[in-house]
Amino acid sequence: MYSDEINKRRTFAIISHPDAGKTTLTEKLLLFGGAIQTAGAVKSNKIKKSTSSDFMEIEKQRGISVATSVMTFEYNGQKINLLDTPGHKDFAEDVYRTLTAVDSVIIVVDCVKGVEEQTEKLMEVCRMRRTPVIVFINKLDREGKRPFELLDEIEAKLSIGVRPLSWPISIGSSFKGVYNLYDKTLCLFRPGGASIAEDVLSVTDINDPVLDERLGEYAAQLREDVALVDGVYEPFDRAAYLMADLAPVFFGSAVNNFGVKELLNTFTTIAPPPLSRAADTRSIQPNEKNFSGFVFKIHANIDPRHRDRIAFLRICSGKFERNKFFHHVRLGKDFKFRSPSSFLAQEKNIIEEAFPGDVIGLYDTGNFKIGDTLTEGEKIMFRGIPSFSPEVFKEVMNTDPMRSKQLEKGLEQLTDEGVAQLFIQQLGNKRIIGTVGELQFDVIQYRLLHEYGASCRFVLLSYNKACWLTATDNKKLTEFTRYRSEHLFTDKDGNLVYFSASDWTLNRVREDNPGVEFHFSSELNTGTPGRQSCVA
Ligand code: G4P
Repeated sequence: MYSDEINKRRTFAIISHPDAGKTTLTEKLLLFGGAIQTAGAVKSNKIKKSTSSDFMEIEKQRGISVATSVMTFEYNGQKINLLDTPGHKDFAEDVYRTLTAVDSVIIVVDCVKGVEEQTEKLMEVCRMRRTPVIVFINKLDREGKRPFELLDEIEAKLSIGVRPLSWPISIGSSFKGVYNLYDKTLCLFRPGGASIAEDVLSVTDINDPVLDERLGEYAAQLREDVALVDGVYEPFDRAAYLMADLAPVFFGSAVNNFGVKELLNTFTTIAPPPLSRAADTRSIQPNEKNFSGFVFKIHANIDPRHRDRIAFLRICSGKFERNKFFHHVRLGKDFKFRSPSSFLAQEKNIIEEAFPGDVIGLYDTGNFKIGDTLTEGEKIMFRGIPSFSPEVFKEVMNTDPMRSKQLEKGLEQLTDEGVAQLFIQQLGNKRIIGTVGELQFDVIQYRLLHEYGASCRFVLLSYNKACWLTATDNKKLTEFTRYRSEHLFTDKDGNLVYFSASDWTLNRVREDNPGVEFHFSSELNTGTPGRQSCVA
């Protein structure tokens, strides 16, 4: 019974470069899943480039993304939890953290633009965590790149093997539909709407004369392509997909509802149920009796009169119950939750219980930070919630000395939420905010003023990378800190971090200090530097 609950859950996220069609695909999946009835119900959580300094827009977006943080629906007897990720590249850190809470992902690629930069970065995180991925090549109704070219590009840029499970028949204005290589069906394209029953034809095999009847001159090309696909690619191997070595690929057009149902059907057939998760002392299995989970995202209330927040918790094992005491490992205290909530499209509901794979929202008055673990008493901390090197570094200058306590508190809490990273300079005690984009500085300044009554300005520093430092020989580290002290900082957990001004400098410093290891990421919850080493 309990294992049935676990096995029917599929928790995933959709990721893409902005504009590839993530919001559209999300909406269509919810439509097919019956979670929403009309198109347009899911608001895009994109912050358009032109509004990068529009604070109200940012606030509005925050409101929207709370409501659509987790979208749950039932399909093919499964309970599907789709975790939303922000579209704007400046919020890439939020996406990275959400990826720690899913068991698989769907990557959307625009067939016109191919694999874009943001997708490559997100895939790196998936690869690091060995998260299984399915690729959906979107916008086949547009004149895009050739399918074989796209597949080669995915293999090269995303460093993963591919196996097409459907194949497009022509593209752009002459796009006819897709041939499903897996279950041998022909799905004919009908612009602007869902394909109807008669548009989906079962064929005996690729030589079926039905193909000639329906596709005319395109049938020969399809046969040629399919022969090539079968010659080049190994048959689909689910084990390789689950090991994140192989990505099945689908072609479609989300805005035209095309290829989405096939994607969803295959997803529910092959995607993994909740997987085990690594904690600092051992691996936690979802079917363990005792409850455990971790916080991967915190949302502040957008109403400044209420300082409460929602902490999003991914359940890893056992059963979560309302009003039951659970142990907050970092604080060493027990808490119970009166109104834990689940999210269904725009609705928020109080839940009585939740199972591994589920994501629930917990009201928080400031007790949680990202990476916190809740258990039934066991002192474990989940690993793999890293913070990555920021790309923009600014020093915080207090512009209202009467409110310095508020500024400190605000900075502390906002960085607990993961809005940005806070570093303290070893010498001089300067406070530095590090982010991946400019947008966070607007958010921080705005929220400090409106929520904490504190004001500050930022001074840009000429650093481009932060590296967490470790050394097997502590003497080497001490020596290094002596000579490089002006570029040394500590993160919020007290880990030593080196800021470099350029990749060139970093390479030189590394060469000069072979005994010191430079890491691109740290793990927020344990303070232990991550596995990734710095490749500048
Ligand atoms: P994102 O969340 O990944 O940023 O992308 P989003 O879904 O917002 O889609 C970006 C644009 O691409 C939207 O157009 C959307 O309608 C369009 N789109 C999505 N799927 C397809 C497709 O299969 N074919 C074509 N031709 N277009 C597609 P927009 O003009 O930016 O917004 P809208 O005014 O249409 O909403």
